[in-house]
Amino acid sequence: MPETTWWKRGIVYQIYPRSFQDTNGDGIGDLQGISQRLDYLQWLGVDAIWISPIFPSPMADFGYDVSDYCGIDPIFGTLDDFDRVLEQAHSRNLKVILDFVPNHTSDQHPWFLESRSSRTNPKRDWYIWRDPAPGGGVPNNWISNFGGPAWEWDEATGQYYYHAFLKEQPDLNWRNPEVREAMFDSLRFWLRRGVDGFRVDVIWHLIKDAEFRNNPPNPGYQSHQAEINKYLQVHSADQPEVHDVIAAMRQVLEEYEDRVLIGEIYLPLERLVAYYGKDLSGAHLPFNFQLIQTAWNAHEIEKLVNEYEGVLPDGGWPNWVLGNHDQPRIGARIGKAQARVAAMLLLTLRGTPTMYYGDELGMTKVEIPPESVQDPWEKNEPGLGLGRDPARTPMQWDSSPNAGFTPGEPWLPLAPDFQTCNVEVLSQDSGSVLCLYRRLIDLRRRHLALSIGQYLPVQSGGQVFAYERRHGAERLLIVLNFGHAAQAIDLPDGVGKARVLLSTVRSGDWHVEAGCLDLAPDEGLIVALEEG
Ligand code: GLC
Repeated sequence: MPETTWWKRGIVYQIYPRSFQDTNGDGIGDLQGISQRLDYLQWLGVDAIWISPIFPSPMADFGYDVSDYCGIDPIFGTLDDFDRVLEQAHSRNLKVILDFVPNHTSDQHPWFLESRSSRTNPKRDWYIWRDPAPGGGVPNNWISNFGGPAWEWDEATGQYYYHAFLKEQPDLNWRNPEVREAMFDSLRFWLRRGVDGFRVDVIWHLIKDAEFRNNPPNPGYQSHQAEINKYLQVHSADQPEVHDVIAAMRQVLEEYEDRVLIGEIYLPLERLVAYYGKDLSGAHLPFNFQLIQTAWNAHEIEKLVNEYEGVLPDGGWPNWVLGNHDQPRIGARIGKAQARVAAMLLLTLRGTPTMYYGDELGMTKVEIPPESVQDPWEKNEPGLGLGRDPARTPMQWDSSPNAGFTPGEPWLPLAPDFQTCNVEVLSQDSGSVLCLYRRLIDLRRRHLALSIGQYLPVQSGGQVFAYERRHGAERLLIVLNFGHAAQAIDLPDGVGKARVLLSTVRSGDWHVEAGCLDLAPDEGLIVALEEG
């Protein structure tokens, strides 16, 4: 049955491998560490892990600068270690999704070293080289996503190369068929080994305007924003031809059974859904980051969910993301009380949920002293609050030194509250956010209404967002209080009896007789409805 495909039913858990579990004492997480912690993920109940890049890399952007697409960086271990992760994950019914970074390589990748060696090198056209503008200087006004011009001058060959991110991350030229084939072969390398799919980094960037026209200025730009926002990215990303590239990438996955293609795409909804592709030939799941970008109140979130449901193409499967390694954590954005409501929202909406490691512990943000900053973006554009380190700190396993993350010196500081906020402590406390996540995951697994059921909006108002999920005769009402005051809402017409299955703040389950449903401050409820 197509609707029971694992990536539709399942829950994805993102592991940022540097910060998950270190086993060799270098202060950086590794693959053996992931193997050790698979039992935890099984206990939590997730279905798939997506591991941020583990390929050989000079680590200018912590693995998003790949110097070999078919290997494992020694910091993380060996190919054998990877095969063990895969085998041990599969034996626990966990799927493994890798992070594919096709837009750019490292400047140390042999392809780039060749490309920059001379203008006549056969790989010259694998990257994006341009002459200076007629009057001299950079070829156009494109800005790097990490600040500064996106063009780097190469003295030896007298041309600029384009980099949408760091100058250590030159962009590949995806208009070149040889690049496509080489990259598709690297996908096959991992697919043959048995990986279950890919999260594709900045997939909407792969094709740039053929004429490299200047981007128009952004009238809304404010000086406290990242420099990339000075211009609207009209010509440097989201080009129509990108969809052919993605369809070809999808075809590579179709050579194997049951693999998933997830695309990282930061675009407004109507442009995002184009990434399902013509006749669904594109990404299975174009990542939907709208929960991260939308103001946190009942009205806006309700509007968002209804708009998304409305623009999805026929047969396109929805998905929702609450956090990742590039964004402030949900707990830091909306506070611990609302983060529990957010957990219930994520795990009861229609569509594949993606969780970010540590959010299930209620991790917030860790202050990073200036001398400990690691993120190249923070180093390039300091003081604007763009740094991603506060959301990338070590996973908190127990109350021992360094939270059980490493026997060495951790690459980023631990959260100061790790002795009380960790897996060991929270798993023993039935009222903890960790136990809430586990129950939500369990409920989603046991109720088809939650995993694959219909979504139906329900009139609510005020600070309450309510909706129903339905499958067959089963009706579940989800009621979320986005406010800090108690609320009451009416049960839908025709409902006789109702039973609360789960609350984000109260324990147990209870019956509600016809009439009003009471909500505590910051409370979310899952309620089974019976007609009567
Ligand atoms: C993506 C990654 C981010 C990285 C960037 C460049 O947005 O998620 O971490 O810095 O691409 O590869």
